[in-house]
Amino acid sequence: MLNNKRPDSMERITTPALAEAFINEQIALVREQVGDKKVLLALSGGVDSSVVAALLIKAIGKQLVCVHVNHGLMRKDESESVIKLFREELDANLIYVDATDRFLDLLAGVSDPEKKRKIIGAEFINVFADEARKLEGISFLAQGTIYPDILESIKQAEGKKAVKSHHNVGGLPEDLQFDLVEPIKLLFKDEVRVVGEALGLPHAMVYRQPFPGPGLGVRCLGAITRDRLHALREADAILREEFDNAGLSGKVWQYFVVVPDVRSVGVKDESRYEGWPAIIRAVNTKDAMTASIEEIPYAVLHHITKRITSEVEGINRVLYDLTPKPTGTIEWE
Ligand code: XMP
Repeated sequence: MLNNKRPDSMERITTPALAEAFINEQIALVREQVGDKKVLLALSGGVDSSVVAALLIKAIGKQLVCVHVNHGLMRKDESESVIKLFREELDANLIYVDATDRFLDLLAGVSDPEKKRKIIGAEFINVFADEARKLEGISFLAQGTIYPDILESIKQAEGKKAVKSHHNVGGLPEDLQFDLVEPIKLLFKDEVRVVGEALGLPHAMVYRQPFPGPGLGVRCLGAITRDRLHALREADAILREEFDNAGLSGKVWQYFVVVPDVRSVGVKDESRYEGWPAIIRAVNTKDAMTASIEEIPYAVLHHITKRITSEVEGINRVLYDLTPKPTGTIEWE
């Protein structure tokens, strides 16, 4: 536990120069730890795993093997952009696994939110472990653990109950025990972003909004079906595009679409048109423990509504969730 404690003397990384010094220090430490051995990393495309990947590519190049698992619950074009950045631009050793069918088949008919989370978390480990077993000569597992994760585990070890079971990689099976490489485990999120920019990662990736491990799985409420998941993904892409256009994406902490398993009667082309509602959620928060609602300008809401209802098959209404946290949580499941 000792080297999991951030020393009081550790300066907060707030500038490119401090980030540069941190990166150089970590490169030396990682090289010393790893030698000429291989390191495996589950690269989701989130800020933390991406920063670890970029740092390790700098430190050990092709000794790093990244595995990107697409659980079929990613946002539109997300896996493609991870592949483009890491494989094509950063020349990473990257294995892409499209496990969509494995996840969606297991989730079929499962409506309980905690069961869904558990299935997604467990299957993620199964898919990742299957890939790891195919590889030879892996000695280390890199993880994008950051300091709040460590603080959270300490809280849980002290018996405080979490509201939801968040999933992040951990707990690989017995036959796959690697030594851990966790170069950003003493950093807070704002520091990870400064380091990410200093490593040359795109601004949009480094400052991207948080995205839960179970992905769109916790936004396609109840039992996930492929058609409703598809509608959610398309509606969410429109929301994100329009937030970019309106200059809101850098300003709002988290914004997304939720699609419940409810149909209402509507009308389209003068005919009855039953469809799902797309629920827009846009929140601001400092630490995700409480959250307030972003006041999206009416014109933007109106435009998003028009686009979603005309472009997304299966959606006939758009709703705007006005509930802060508490009483709502940020995600609906
Ligand atoms: P809630 O819904 O609990 O969410 O208010 C708080 C923040 O956590 C994100 N979230 C997750 N992040 N794995 C994660 O890494 C998860 O399983 C998970 N579930 C929720 C959520 O998007 C929000 O930012």
